[in-house]
Amino acid sequence: MTLLLARDDVAQVLDMADCMGAVERAFAELVSDTAVLPLRIGIKPPGGISLYMPAYLKESGALACKVVTVYKDNPTKHGMPTTIGKVLLQDPETGDVICIMDGGYLTAMRTGAVSGVATKYLAREDDGQVAGIFGAGVQARMQLRAVAVARKLSKALVYDPVPEVVEGFANELRDLDLEIVGVESPEALLEGADILCAATSASTPLFEGNAVRPGTHINGIGSHTPNARELDTTIVKRSKFVADSAEACLSEAGDLMIPIDEGAITADHIHAELGELILGRKPGRESAEEITLFKSVGLAIQDVATAKLVYDKAVEAGIGTSIEL
Ligand SMILES: NC(=O)c1ccc[n+]([C@@H]2O[C@H](COP(=O)([O-])OP(=O)(O)OC[C@H]3O[C@@H](n4cnc5c(N)ncnc54)[C@H](O)[C@@H]3O)[C@@H](O)[C@H]2O)c1
Repeated sequence: MTLLLARDDVAQVLDMADCMGAVERAFAELVSDTAVLPLRIGIKPPGGISLYMPAYLKESGALACKVVTVYKDNPTKHGMPTTIGKVLLQDPETGDVICIMDGGYLTAMRTGAVSGVATKYLAREDDGQVAGIFGAGVQARMQLRAVAVARKLSKALVYDPVPEVVEGFANELRDLDLEIVGVESPEALLEGADILCAATSASTPLFEGNAVRPGTHINGIGSHTPNARELDTTIVKRSKFVADSAEACLSEAGDLMIPIDEGAITADHIHAELGELILGRKPGRESAEEITLFKSVGLAIQDVATAKLVYDKAVEAGIGTSIEL
């Protein structure tokens, strides 16, 4: 039998703190050689990009493949989300697909979760910091949820050129019990925030790197192709750079690849992979003045770990529909 889980089923059982735990264990596996993570395959139909993302986590007993598409004109042209996905979860012992689940909510959750884990290891530790979110779309919401798990925030600032989206963002996140304020410019966000998340559909830099204050931590998750970037060369050069995967960032992250192509930095600028911080093999933040930058292009291990968590919780709660395919 194959269990089918719709978006609402996934949302019902998936919680940010638990997802961060699963994702953190997956990143530890990645640098412990118990994970199998082929580089994802990308195909570009006219409307967007379609990605095929398999992975296996031996210790977590999780094997799955996600098909995810990013079609930037979907919201305006078709009234559909930019990012759509489905996950096929398999039984590692038999190889059989035991669950097919919606991957849209799961993607946003696991993308938030990895930023939450990076924030835990890289942001300053003081309470009362202000989060600054670039973009107020689907991913941005989960970025704030995750940062709010990692640190006790006093406020969140949001910048998005589309004002209605900012209103929806603040309404949807009311349960965080946090003051959420829309700001008029990227500069206002940089002036007021300590922990920044770049979670936009932009493909050119969102702000001037010299304007970032010392002590800031940045999570960059929006861009994930060689020619697109949300972060300029200046801020990448000023930052202690941590990658989700060095190999993936060196082949997919314009934020890193463009400064390397310009000759401003070399691949040695990568201080560590996230898993190395988790296992204590490399230091995270070393001073209150340092600017830290976590770059995530998104890895299948995040999906696989999260899908296994969702499946186990759904089975325990008796949620979903089982069918014989
Ligand atoms: N790294 C990962 O693992 C990962 C995972 C999923 C999606 N993504 C990427 O994240 C990006 C956002 O995805 P989404 O699903 O949230 O899309 P979305 O369409 O829901 O939201 C994107 C938002 O960015 C805003 N925006 C565009 N340019 C901006 C700018 N210069 N400054 C501030 N805001 C700006 C848009 O107005 C929109 O509200 C996409 O590029 C997607 O490919 C990355």
